[in-house]
Amino acid sequence: MNIIEAKQAIMGTLKKKVLAALGKVDDPDLKKDLVSLGMVDALEIDGTTISFTIILTTPACPLQEVIKQACIQAIRDQVKDDFEIVIKFTSKVTSGRSASSILPGVKNIIAIASGKGGVGKSTIATHLALALSNHGAAVGLLDADIFGPSIPTMWGCQTMKPTVVKEGGKHLIMPISRHNVKLLSIGFLSNREEAIVWRGPMASAAFKQLLQDTNWGTLDYLLIDLPPGTSDIHLTLVQTLSITGAVIVTTPHNIALIDAIKAMAMFQKEQIKVPILGLIENMSYFLVDKEKTNNRHYIFGKDGGKLLAEKAAIPFLGQVPLLTMICQQGDLGTIPDATIMPFNKIAERLAQQVAVQNATCQQDNASGHNMH
Ligand SMILES: Nc1ncnc2c1ncn2[C@@H]1O[C@H](COP(=O)(O)OP(=O)(O)OP(=O)(O)O)[C@@H](O)[C@H]1O
Ligand SMILES: [Mg+2]
Repeated sequence: MNIIEAKQAIMGTLKKKVLAALGKVDDPDLKKDLVSLGMVDALEIDGTTISFTIILTTPACPLQEVIKQACIQAIRDQVKDDFEIVIKFTSKVTSGRSASSILPGVKNIIAIASGKGGVGKSTIATHLALALSNHGAAVGLLDADIFGPSIPTMWGCQTMKPTVVKEGGKHLIMPISRHNVKLLSIGFLSNREEAIVWRGPMASAAFKQLLQDTNWGTLDYLLIDLPPGTSDIHLTLVQTLSITGAVIVTTPHNIALIDAIKAMAMFQKEQIKVPILGLIENMSYFLVDKEKTNNRHYIFGKDGGKLLAEKAAIPFLGQVPLLTMICQQGDLGTIPDATIMPFNKIAERLAQQVAVQNATCQQDNASGHNMH
């Protein structure tokens, strides 16, 4: 064996050791090791450096630092020599959806729902879309509120009209792009007075068309802002698309919680079986002085949504305060460039739950269970 071959053999052994070490590091959410999950890529070792890339399941992963430290520790335990460890991160959003379904380019479809009206679905859908997009994900937002679409106003694009393209002999609507998010609303296509007099079946047909005939391209997350309650639109959605899961929005009041329970029950029905990705509590408290966090006024009661999530054993994604700025931005359609405080964390937790859901879905498929 010459010197080069000997060096290669040492490096080969070292690579095996590093991979064995990383094989002991579990993804904290997916509870499986990084190597089996295919999350380790481009492992290179030279005389002084061990470098590799971790492929996360979402660019909005809140556990990046935790994973990094666990990898460094595991390698240090296995490899005694003093190598510099360089870890890069990239992401590939997972999907539990079948590629043969409608919208095969859309990896995850997330419905934003509530039992009660006016609790902040559209506001939250808007800010989550922005937060996910700011993390680097490809995001779309579909306003499914046929009778009271608010997305065009909230995004300041009421007067815009989507174009239609012909692809493969089919006419497809092109969503409107704002702040790097692809938007579509029935509000862009019909005038409000017209839509208000539509009867249930007409509204469902219009919604179905929006779902099927839109050119979303490739998206990591498509958020669907639903109307309140449990209407025909909800049924059309779950019958037309296989959706990743639903997020329930509620305010802390009892009255809203009762309706949130109804909405959860609808998604959990045997014929529907849409996983609940989590619950968000909106208007949790009013902050009189932004600087003083102890200056919180729980005008609608304290922790109602949080306690409901605990009781129903569903993930709690976070609390959003009642802020004048949020309301003003919604009214004026002045979307902020940066993510407003708590939405970033909530978006990260949502992305985490999507990854967990997709992993569960893959496991169930592998073991022969028939998921939605
Ligand atoms: N956290 C908040 N702070 C201040 N204002 C808020 C907050 N959340 C929502 N709002 C305001 O409350 C109103 C209702 O919110 P929104 O339209 O998002 O609710 P919704 O659940 O989508 O309503 P609908 O059931 O009619 O679709 C809007 O004017 C919005 O700007
Ligand atoms: Mg709404």
